Amino acid sequence: MVAETSLEPQKLMWPLFVVPGEKVRQEISSLPGVFHLSVDTLVKEVQAAWDDGVRSVLLFGVPETKDVKGVSAADENSLVAQAVRALKKVLPDLIVATDVCLCAYTTHGHCGVLSEQGDILNDPSLELLANMALAHAKAGADIVAPSDMMDGRVAAIRQKLDEQDFSSTIIMSYAAKYASSFYGPFRDAAHSAPSHGDRKSYQMHAANAKEAMREIECDVQEGADIVMVKPALAYLDIIHRARERFDLPIAAYHVSGEYAMVKAAAAKGWIDERAAMMESLMAIRRAGADIIITYYAREAAKQLA
Ligand code: PBG
Repeated sequence: MVAETSLEPQKLMWPLFVVPGEKVRQEISSLPGVFHLSVDTLVKEVQAAWDDGVRSVLLFGVPETKDVKGVSAADENSLVAQAVRALKKVLPDLIVATDVCLCAYTTHGHCGVLSEQGDILNDPSLELLANMALAHAKAGADIVAPSDMMDGRVAAIRQKLDEQDFSSTIIMSYAAKYASSFYGPFRDAAHSAPSHGDRKSYQMHAANAKEAMREIECDVQEGADIVMVKPALAYLDIIHRARERFDLPIAAYHVSGEYAMVKAAAAKGWIDERAAMMESLMAIRRAGADIIITYYAREAAKQLA
C-alpha cells in the first residue's frame, strides 16, 4: 500500500536476436538464457512470452552477409523485416520495436560509414540509417530505435518516415548512450564488435552528465517520442536527471553486461538471481524510467504474475 514504485510486465521490453535459417534456437554463451533465433522459432518463443505477460520486444538482426556501408540493413526483406511481419501477423497487439544501427551490418563493425582513414563519417551515415528505419516501418514496426548515436539521425529518420506516410511510427532514440564496457556480451551476440578503434567518438564518456542532457534535448527537438538512457544501473543518476527535466517517456536499457553479471554470480551460487533481478529492475524504475529494456523481461513478467 505504501510502495512508491511499482513494476509491471507492460513496462518491460524484451530484446531478441534474429538469425538466418530455420528452427534455429542457439543459446548465446556470454548471455545464458538468451538465444539466437530464426524467424520461425522467434515467433513461437514470443507467443509463449506473450502468454507470460511480455507485451513488447526489441529486435536485432544478425545478418549472414556484411558490407562496407551496411546497405543490407535497409533491405525490405531483411531478417528484422521478416521477423516484424511474422510477429505482427500472429500477435497484432504486440508492440514491436526494431534497433536501427549499422554495426551488425558493416564489415568494420562501426555504427556508421567510415572514411578511408577509418574515421566515422556522421552525415553520410544518416541516409543509410533513415532507409533502414523506413524498411522496418514498412514491415510494420511500431517503434524504430536508432542506437548509432550519429548527430542528426532522429531528424533524418523522422523526415524520411513522414515523407513516406509513416508519420505515426514512433521513434525511441538511444539518446544518452555511453561508450560502455557493459556491451561486451551483446557484441558477441550481434557479431558487432568494431574491428579497429572504439565507439568513443560517437558514444558518450562516463564522466559526463550535462552532456547527456544536451544529447537528449537534441533528440527531443528533432522529434524523438521516447528517449533512452543506456546502460541503466551504472547511469541511474542520468535516468533521474532526465526524468526531472523532460516529460517524454523515458526508457532505460539494462544491457547485456548488467544481465550477464547477475547470471554469472548466480551460476556460482554467489547471489540470489531472482532477488537481484527484481531489485535491479525496481531501482531502474525508481530512478524514473517508464520503460525498461531487459533480457530479464520474460522471467520478470512470469515472476510478477
Ligand atoms: C548497437 C547496439 C549496442 C547495444 C544495443 N545496440 C552495442 C554497441 O553500441 O556497441 C548494446 C546492448 C547491450 O549491451 O545489451 N549500436
